[in-house]
Amino acid sequence: MAKDQVAQGQGARRLRSQEWFNNPANADMTALYLERYLNFGLSREELQSGKPIIGIAQSGSDLSPCNRHHMVLAERVREGIRTAGGIAIEFPVHPIQETGKRPTAGLDRNLAYLGLVELLYGYPLDGVVLTIGCDKTTPAMLMAAATVNIPAIALSVGPMLNGWHKGERTGSGTIVWKARQMMAAGEIDYKGFIDLVASSAPSTGYCNTMGTATTMNSLAEVLGMQLPGSAAIPAPYRERQQVAYETGKRIVGMVEEDLKPSDIMTRDAFLNAIVVNSAIGGSTNAPIHLVAIARHVGVDLTLDDWQTHGHKIPLLVNLQPAGEYLGEDYHHAGGVPAVVNQLMQQGLIREGAMTANGRTIGENCRGKAIEMPEVIRTFDNPLKPEAGFIVLRGSLFDNAIVKTSVISPEFRDRFLSNPDDPDAFEGRAIVFDGPEDYHHRIDDPALDIGKTDILVMRGTGPIGYPGAAEVVNMRPPAYLIKQGITVLPCIGDGRQSGTSGSPSILNASPEAAAGGNLAILRTGDRLRVDLKRGRADILIAPAEIDARRRALETAGGYVYPPSQTPWQEIQRRMVGQLGDGAVLEPAVQFQRIAETY
Ligand code: FES
Ligand code: MG
Repeated sequence: MAKDQVAQGQGARRLRSQEWFNNPANADMTALYLERYLNFGLSREELQSGKPIIGIAQSGSDLSPCNRHHMVLAERVREGIRTAGGIAIEFPVHPIQETGKRPTAGLDRNLAYLGLVELLYGYPLDGVVLTIGCDKTTPAMLMAAATVNIPAIALSVGPMLNGWHKGERTGSGTIVWKARQMMAAGEIDYKGFIDLVASSAPSTGYCNTMGTATTMNSLAEVLGMQLPGSAAIPAPYRERQQVAYETGKRIVGMVEEDLKPSDIMTRDAFLNAIVVNSAIGGSTNAPIHLVAIARHVGVDLTLDDWQTHGHKIPLLVNLQPAGEYLGEDYHHAGGVPAVVNQLMQQGLIREGAMTANGRTIGENCRGKAIEMPEVIRTFDNPLKPEAGFIVLRGSLFDNAIVKTSVISPEFRDRFLSNPDDPDAFEGRAIVFDGPEDYHHRIDDPALDIGKTDILVMRGTGPIGYPGAAEVVNMRPPAYLIKQGITVLPCIGDGRQSGTSGSPSILNASPEAAAGGNLAILRTGDRLRVDLKRGRADILIAPAEIDARRRALETAGGYVYPPSQTPWQEIQRRMVGQLGDGAVLEPAVQFQRIAETY
């Protein structure tokens, strides 16, 4: 449809907002809808002009500092929308601050999703700008856009500036792990601990490390849902304001072209995201969120796709926690397009995937150069080979993932059960029921934790610890750290912070609270993990496993704490497991619902 036709409301396609604002067949309701949207100064001429009504889904607020800068950027988005001939309507979405929400921010992803679906479906919106940023805000909004399927474009808030402490880069989230070890070893006190951690957050924006936020914002660009080159721009930079304006302009064009999430987020786009996730050293939360978005948009994507398409991809981006640099460096080095171009040259990107600017990812990224080779490596000179995830199965769980690239040679040496088979290791399980139990007992000498033990965290999946806690990565007891043992393998049914670099087996599904075999594990049981064959098993006889399962069932199942809020209880009854995206299972049947209005 030609632009002037939409602007004058004369086109063949009538915009859905006109069902509210210009519908003579339903004069009563039209009058009611109009009069209240006029009351703050919009005019009848504007609302009945047939110009696209563009929502700005505002995730920023004082409660969500990572995304707060969107309150400023929204002004430039509005100017872009107005310039291109649209009308902006800004509204709040449920805020999610990763570092502020108890018990977990994970609990709120599906709540924000549900709320945004209702807003996009039930109000007169023709398109929407999704203001993404902090970890869960990105998947929550992409999931909602996928379900409703009106034209949508995402705008990152951008990472914080680099953190600095005594001349060294300090990365948000990542520095906490180092600071904890330093405090456990007596090198810094409480004040020193807080000063060191706070140095990593010097400006507005989200985490400057390659944590879940940088990962998911990068992948939103790879999926095609934001303008090329925009994901990595730091929040305070002028380019961030400029791309906010361009994003506002572009969503009007997307409405004119009827370019919808289902046209952009295809299976090819998701496979591109899996490949790029390995190359950037992306978070272990990415499989959960991408599987969730794919299920809501109706694309077939499973955990196995991560191993099949992602495992052998090398690590190119040298950002903390896997590397040295931070968000500003990533931007100056060329950001997402420079990474995609490297992978494209190897034939690893499905170049025909459509993106928000109306061009393919191949057209957008071809020839995009690396500007700082120490920050983004070439494909021929990677930081690490095979940087993706592998999927484990066995008698411990149906599926779990592990990021093998963070397993150090020193770690492999310590755990060798057989020098001829360096990918298999055995150890004694030390079992904790949730993070409170872990914090209470980890330094208890009675546990006698040794350097070849395996720490197990259970009761921390989507049901057991509502939303699934980021607690699977656990530091060893202080006495081992003092001996130089800073890492033990960890296994758990929860998640791991994207900013931690430890070799953990996580997202185990089903979780203990859903009847998984982690529930019958006891401290002292031996475990065997075989990375090459993709196995994780309890080394006890099958008859003993059966007997323990029967005893657990008789006792009424794995006990977890009661719900503290209504939403915890409601979500626990409907949520699926991490391997399936931890979505609200009854929501998946609702797809492309804007077409039904
Ligand atoms: Fe918000 Fe890391 S805490 S992005
Ligand atoms: Mg996180």
